[in-house]
Amino acid sequence: MCLTIPAKVIAIDNPMPDFPVAKITVEDSKGARELKSLWLPELKVGDWVLYAYDTAVRRVSEEDAREILELLEPKKHIDISRLDTGFVEVLKSHTAGTLSRDGIVRLLKTEDPVETETLFAEANTVRQAALKDFFCIHGIVEFSNHCVRECHYCGLRKGAAGVARYRMTPDEIVSTVEDAVRKRGYKLIVLQSGDDFHYTDETLVDIIRRIKKSSKVFIFMSVGERSLECYRKMKAAGASGSLFRFETSNRELYNSVHPGQSYEKRMKLLKGMKELGYYIASGFLVGLPGQTVEDIAEDILMMKEMKVNMASVGPFIPCVSTPLSAHPAGSAELSLKAIAILRLLMPKAKIPVTTALETIESEEGRRLGLSSGANSLMFNLTPERYRGEYRIYPNKYHGNAEVWEKYGLFNEELSYRMLEKKMFEAFEVAK
Ligand code: 5AD
Repeated sequence: MCLTIPAKVIAIDNPMPDFPVAKITVEDSKGARELKSLWLPELKVGDWVLYAYDTAVRRVSEEDAREILELLEPKKHIDISRLDTGFVEVLKSHTAGTLSRDGIVRLLKTEDPVETETLFAEANTVRQAALKDFFCIHGIVEFSNHCVRECHYCGLRKGAAGVARYRMTPDEIVSTVEDAVRKRGYKLIVLQSGDDFHYTDETLVDIIRRIKKSSKVFIFMSVGERSLECYRKMKAAGASGSLFRFETSNRELYNSVHPGQSYEKRMKLLKGMKELGYYIASGFLVGLPGQTVEDIAEDILMMKEMKVNMASVGPFIPCVSTPLSAHPAGSAELSLKAIAILRLLMPKAKIPVTTALETIESEEGRRLGLSSGANSLMFNLTPERYRGEYRIYPNKYHGNAEVWEKYGLFNEELSYRMLEKKMFEAFEVAK
């Protein structure tokens, strides 16, 4: 669903009182703007409304409005008077399309808090200009924690001891999605599992078909390295997107933490998915052993070059029963900088605040992510009884979905259409 944004009404253009309000002017921290308005009887100047994209959809109390604004507004004031001119030049080079690898490294490496805040603020401005406060809330159903892979960082790796493995049945998966759509207003749902071949291609296809038949929802599959043929069949059944990270663009690093897998094979599959017309959600981890800032700059450029539609970046979090259990977690700040730079390079892409970032920074991670260029949140819809066992890393953050859902756009048609429009735009840009 789309997240609606609060603003105060400062003028109403309603020449015919018996007619639905057609045009209103609202004011928020960025100034005044005109909105179309749905039928909001007795709306007065001074009231607060929630809007999504360019349409006001609901009146809210000032108290509720302030609750969501608190979560969205960047808190720090930036003093730009003492910024290094070299930094400003690099930062602004994205507008001319000339932000280079060295420039990206410069931005990633800064340890000056004012420069960092300025980078985040610039990304926020680019997001605002390109997407007009279009924030999305998506859901994820983690339907199986079985995995045949041995990724060194992942708590669900085949050899990890102490994991109570589970598989949801197709019926459970379908009804979980149906409930999320019907009762909670979700319009885009990710179905994620380990690389679990217990589910045959046909089973996955059947699950997708059943969901598409009963619910108006976009389905993104996150089921790992399966055959391209499987991805073709899932697409034909109605899947729209694929969430498939390349994890790192450094081939040696990739191969060193993914025993038995190959970088070439993964990239080939990713390209194949793109050719099949999937909406591509891909990305990388921040903080893998030996990973350098230069590697991260390459990761960022690779996302741009591949024209991914959704750019997903999160810090590595160490997990027991893995070879990297003693390796320090990736930096939240570096992840946020990567998000901000991705926004500068890909103004219209969807950029989620990843659960890993929330896990390190909790609710603050959401706010920081959304004010540093990200524009979507992913909430966990896995049934309670399985949730604790989907432990790719420990203490996964599940908090506070309610406060955000409360501001989701429940108008079925409008919300679905907006998402469709945005996905289409992202596709067009990425061609
Ligand atoms: N820390 C952070 N992210 C992880 N992932 C897997 N294990 C970890 C971890 N320990 C990420 C991978 C994978 C996604 C589903 O979860 O990037 O693609």
